Amino acid sequence: MADRRRVFVTRALPGAAPLARLRDVAAVDVWEHERPPAPDEVAARSEGCAAILPMLTERIDGALLDACPTVHTLANMAVGYDNIDVPAASERGVLVTNTPDVLTDTTADIAFALLLAAARRVTEGERSVRAGEWGTWHPTWMLGRDVHGATLGIVGPGRIGRAVARRAAGFDMRVLYAGRREVPGFPGECVSFEALLERSDFVSVHVPLTPETTRLFNAGAFRRMKPTAIFVNTARGGVVDQAALRDALVRGEIAAAALDVTTPEPLPPDDPLLDAPNLVVTPHLGSATAQTREAMASLAVDALCSAFAGKRPRHLVNPDAWTHWRGA
Ligand code: GLV
Ligand code: GLV
Repeated sequence: MADRRRVFVTRALPGAAPLARLRDVAAVDVWEHERPPAPDEVAARSEGCAAILPMLTERIDGALLDACPTVHTLANMAVGYDNIDVPAASERGVLVTNTPDVLTDTTADIAFALLLAAARRVTEGERSVRAGEWGTWHPTWMLGRDVHGATLGIVGPGRIGRAVARRAAGFDMRVLYAGRREVPGFPGECVSFEALLERSDFVSVHVPLTPETTRLFNAGAFRRMKPTAIFVNTARGGVVDQAALRDALVRGEIAAAALDVTTPEPLPPDDPLLDAPNLVVTPHLGSATAQTREAMASLAVDALCSAFAGKRPRHLVNPDAWTHWRGA
């Protein structure tokens, strides 16, 4: 018999409080390894569970939900949910929740950190010091680009895009944005995607990964950008044609790139992208602060507590599943 109050949590959660709260309402099985569970391991451990609390590293699709028919809720510990086949979940009456808002400013901070690092050659300069290449102060050595007064193009004027625009105001930047529609009150000028590429000194990506945004940044997009432009991606690696980005950097079609997300993740140390000049890479640290990760875990646990109480979770990404929820 399925225990309808069992939850598979696919990694140890940050902070003790969220897991303690979850243990109050369910029997909790935590994946104890550093590496993510493989798909067959997710299926095996989720058998008989009422819910899964996955990370963005776990792919959850219709086949898995068919193999685990007692699973009625997926509380993804991320704002992005491209790791979950949401239409497949909706069809089966499985709720999918995410963790928005709590990571907005933290992610905007790292977008700005990357933007500044690439513009002012922070990581390259640091490497040169450690490599003994700091010969002397020289008037033409390690010259970057000014951030203040430059034009920042935000692709995806959602919550994180807006938080990046707020930071840009503090640097006296002009902000352009491109999205599916004009956003009333957004602190920037709405332009077409093409105009944004052509006019921006910095292009920062804040769209979810969907079929429409997959490889949105391709060879044509990089060619449209200024040769002095800097590309910043804290969204998902899949929005970039990475071979085209590498070519654009090698050929000098753009000046630099700063990426917190890549394809694949982790990026192997011998990936050809890493040979490109003027590249800053961080290992998907967008939401990685102690406070924010605990807040994300807490939100995911809130969603499960709501579901177990028969209440509609607050951050439900597929409201259409609520009417035929298989946990009801
Ligand atoms: C992180 O990438 C997230 O989507 O929360
Ligand atoms: C640089 O350090 C300067 O003083 O101009």
